[in-house]
Amino acid sequence: MSAGRVLVIYGTSYGQTAKIARRIGEVLQRGGAAVEYCDAARGRPSLGPEQYSAIVVGASLIARGVQPPIRRFVRENLAALNRTPSAFFLVSASAGSPSAKGRQAAQRILDGFLAAESWRPAASASIAGAINYTKYGFLLRWYMKRASAMHGGSTDTSRDHEYTDWNQVERFAAEVGDTVGILQTVDSR
Ligand SMILES: Cc1cc2nc3c(=O)[nH]c(=O)nc-3n(C[C@H](O)[C@H](O)[C@H](O)COP(=O)(O)O)c2cc1C
Repeated sequence: MSAGRVLVIYGTSYGQTAKIARRIGEVLQRGGAAVEYCDAARGRPSLGPEQYSAIVVGASLIARGVQPPIRRFVRENLAALNRTPSAFFLVSASAGSPSAKGRQAAQRILDGFLAAESWRPAASASIAGAINYTKYGFLLRWYMKRASAMHGGSTDTSRDHEYTDWNQVERFAAEVGDTVGILQTVDSR
């Protein structure tokens, strides 16, 4: 079965969700899909949502919310998202928390977002992001160091810290591949 055209649309405030979106797209491309990437803050998809074989939406959790352009995209295209094979991933610090309570909090926010928008994607994942101290200004670095100290993350502000589990990302991409029939891809597991 042809994998067709897949839209990977994402919101990213500091780059990690964009990096994860690329990895997901690469896995789908290896399976034969034509992947279109769209940073929701910078542009719009080239086609209408119904014209894609599948739509993957990603966002990061910033101050307990997702990027407004992503929320808007989901609202404006809800009917198509519920008709087309679709998937959602939410990137956060909590998803990489050493405590089960922290990880459950991230999952609850993901589930709450989908329920609030009445979106039923075929697959979803809560994925650990990064704490990119070198990209933050002075005040945000100070704030994030405090938050990290409270939640078990690194407080070494001299460098960035990536918590993303790339095996989980590849498994998720493979699951998405399954939903659009690109089963060869899935053997990258
Ligand atoms: C200003 C700010 C607020 C954040 N708020 C949260 C939050 O409420 N919950 C959480 O789990 N992670 C939070 N994070 C961590 C981000 O979700 C994490 O850094 C993620 O990798 C960001 O992805 P992005 O680079 O694609 O924006 C926050 C990070 C920043 C910089």
